Amino acid sequence: MITAIVLAAGKGSRMKSDIQKQFMLLGEYPVVYYSLKVFEESRVDNIILVTGKQDIEYCRHNIVEKYGFSKVSHIVAGGKERYESVKNALKAADESDYIMIHDGARPFITDKMIEDSMEAVKRFNACTVGMPVKDTIKMVDDKQFGVETPDRKYVYQIQTPQTFNKGLLSDCYSKMENDKNIAVTDDTMVVELYSGTKSKVLAGSYKNIKITTPEDIKIAEIFLQNMLT
Ligand code: CTP
Ligand code: MG
Repeated sequence: MITAIVLAAGKGSRMKSDIQKQFMLLGEYPVVYYSLKVFEESRVDNIILVTGKQDIEYCRHNIVEKYGFSKVSHIVAGGKERYESVKNALKAADESDYIMIHDGARPFITDKMIEDSMEAVKRFNACTVGMPVKDTIKMVDDKQFGVETPDRKYVYQIQTPQTFNKGLLSDCYSKMENDKNIAVTDDTMVVELYSGTKSKVLAGSYKNIKITTPEDIKIAEIFLQNMLT
C-alpha cells in the first residue's frame, strides 16, 4: 500500500500574503489542488492531507469534497515545524508499506516523478527528486566571506516528492523524538541522520518549484499557462 502525505500546514511567512500560499488561486484552482489532483490520478492508494487545525473544515469542504478527491482518507492537523506535520500524518498511515511525502506548495509534481520514485524506493528504501544547481554554490563564514566552493556536479537542489519504506521512516521519526536540537528541513535528512540511509536522488524538474515568495506565484502562472496551451 502506497500513501501520499501532502503537506499544507505552515504559515507561509516568506510569502507575506493575506491568504495562505497553499490556498492562493493559481489559475482557477488553489495551489494545493494541483498536487492532490496528480496523486488522485496516480497509483498511490490513499492521501493524507495535512493542514492547520483551523483549516481542516475548509479543506474538507472547499477542496476535498468540492473537487471529489476520493483518495483523501484523512485530513490531519499539522504542527509548528514541517517535521511535526509529517509526524502527525505518519500516525494515520499504519497500514502503508511506502510513504511519499510532498509539499502541497509544489503544484508541478508529475505522474512520472511518482512512477520513478516508486521504482527507486523498492531498490534503495529512500529517494527524492531534485535537480542540479545552476549557480555556483559558495559556503560562507559568519562574516559572509566565501570559504569553500563545492564542485557543482555534486550539488543538487532537493525537491519533493520524497519516498520511503514506511518502516524505515517511522523508525527514524521515533529516534528523532529523543533529540533535543532538531534542525531538519526535509525527510531525506531525517533518514540520513537517524539511520545512515542514503537517499537516491532522481531527476525532478526545474518547473517543480515550491511556491515560497511572491514572485513564485508569477512564475507558476507562466508554467501553468504553458501546460494548458
Ligand atoms: N509545512 C507544513 N507544516 C509546517 C511547515 C510547512 O505542512 N509546520 C508545509 C508547507 O505547507 C509547504 C511545505 O511544508 O507545503 C514546505 O514548507 P515551506 O515552503 O517552508 O512553507 P511554510 O513553512 O508555510 O513557509 P515559510 O517557511 O515561508 O514560513
Ligand atoms: Mg517553512
